[in-house]
Amino acid sequence: MADRPAQRRRPSSAAPPVDPPDRLPAIADALRVAARRFRTPVYLIDEAAVAAAAEELRAAFPDPWIRQYSLKANDVGAVVALVTGPGHGLGANVVSRGEWAIARRAGVPNPRITFEGVGKTDADLAAAVGSAADGDPIGWLAIESSDEAAVLVAQATRAELGRGGRRPLDVLFRLNPDVAPETHAGLAVGRGGSKFGMTETELSAAVEMVVTAGVGLRPRGVQVHVGSQLGAVDAWRDAVRRGLAVLGLIRGGVPAFDTLDVGGGFAVPPIGEAGPRPARFAREIPRLLEAIPADRRPGRFAIEPGRFVVARSGWLVGRVLHVRDRGGRQVVLDTGMTELIRPALYGGRHPIVALTSRGRPVGPEASDVSSPDADVAVVHGPICESTDELDEHRLPPLRRGDLVAIRDAGAYAASLSSTYNGRPRPPQVIRTIDGRLVLVRRRGAVAGLG
Ligand SMILES: Cc1ncc(COP(=O)(O)O)c(C=O)c1O
Repeated sequence: MADRPAQRRRPSSAAPPVDPPDRLPAIADALRVAARRFRTPVYLIDEAAVAAAAEELRAAFPDPWIRQYSLKANDVGAVVALVTGPGHGLGANVVSRGEWAIARRAGVPNPRITFEGVGKTDADLAAAVGSAADGDPIGWLAIESSDEAAVLVAQATRAELGRGGRRPLDVLFRLNPDVAPETHAGLAVGRGGSKFGMTETELSAAVEMVVTAGVGLRPRGVQVHVGSQLGAVDAWRDAVRRGLAVLGLIRGGVPAFDTLDVGGGFAVPPIGEAGPRPARFAREIPRLLEAIPADRRPGRFAIEPGRFVVARSGWLVGRVLHVRDRGGRQVVLDTGMTELIRPALYGGRHPIVALTSRGRPVGPEASDVSSPDADVAVVHGPICESTDELDEHRLPPLRRGDLVAIRDAGAYAASLSSTYNGRPRPPQVIRTIDGRLVLVRRRGAVAGLG
């Protein structure tokens, strides 16, 4: 289910079984230890959960699917290294030279890096061209408009790409699929009026421009991305169908135009809620391909998920600052929108559980509907904005100093954090599969603010 606009919601009283199993019982101790050792707020990434997500993606979209992790979801260097490391079969999908540099430092070679995004500057495009000119091209560059195509052609001409033994640069063309994504408006990028991608006519003209220029840019296919946290497969299916149709048309005249990148968007609904898993999306592909003549089908397919890889693995641990009666229990934490802006930005929902109650460690059942002690509390962050609210949650008795954990904080949390209100960014800890807590990014320093 997609995130909903911010509004107060009653905690669900009937949580259906969850697949895969909840990791909280396995890591609650680690969360308490991390809070004591590194203070709060602190982000923790659970390596076992990353491995499980990567494995689920591989099972749904097995080789030779190209699986690219979108760094925007979590760009902490050590997390990128973990995700793209040996065993998971994930390359890196970046949207800026900054993310590209993070991916390189994490050990990802250029051929496993793809570059896309609506915000690319001339310098970004030149860097992509430069990678080919230097004989080490990135996997591909996905362009958004004929403006980008024109700049790219000029740069490739200057760099004499494809001449004198220089390598060509593969280029994908982003299609605006004009669909109605089943997600929050703030996460729906595939709508016709959105700023993302080209219409079919614009896309064909951009391909034509690149083909005619003949300057070592190799039009290689179509990229399409519907939106994030997709609550159903229908818009995605429509978008893939459109991508296949456009690709098939162009492939007739440009045989190398063989790649369909179907984007990311696989949802991580709040634990206990149902939603389509990656395999459900993958199941749509064979039927869509049947409608395309065999010689017009893509030769390569790619996905570029971010959230699904890291969201569930991430925890944000904070402490209680205030407990008040405001016609109901009000709890204010020492962490909020500076560390996790999703609730304030577009109503992102993140279940919260207590790790201690009145100073004593408690298990997940303490925050459960079945617990006689748990009661509803409206939880707020510490920031001087009234939108810094984290929704209603069932929580046991709490007092100042008690620890809570915010779930699903591995995606679009650390990468979207800010130092607003003079708050240094929190430390990042990885809990390894063998149970060690490794500090991979220190807390920011007060001296570094301002
Ligand atoms: C073009 C593109 N690809 C991939 C992603 C990753 O999406 P998600 O994290 O939902 O998988 C995004 C997210 O904004 C995107 O814009």
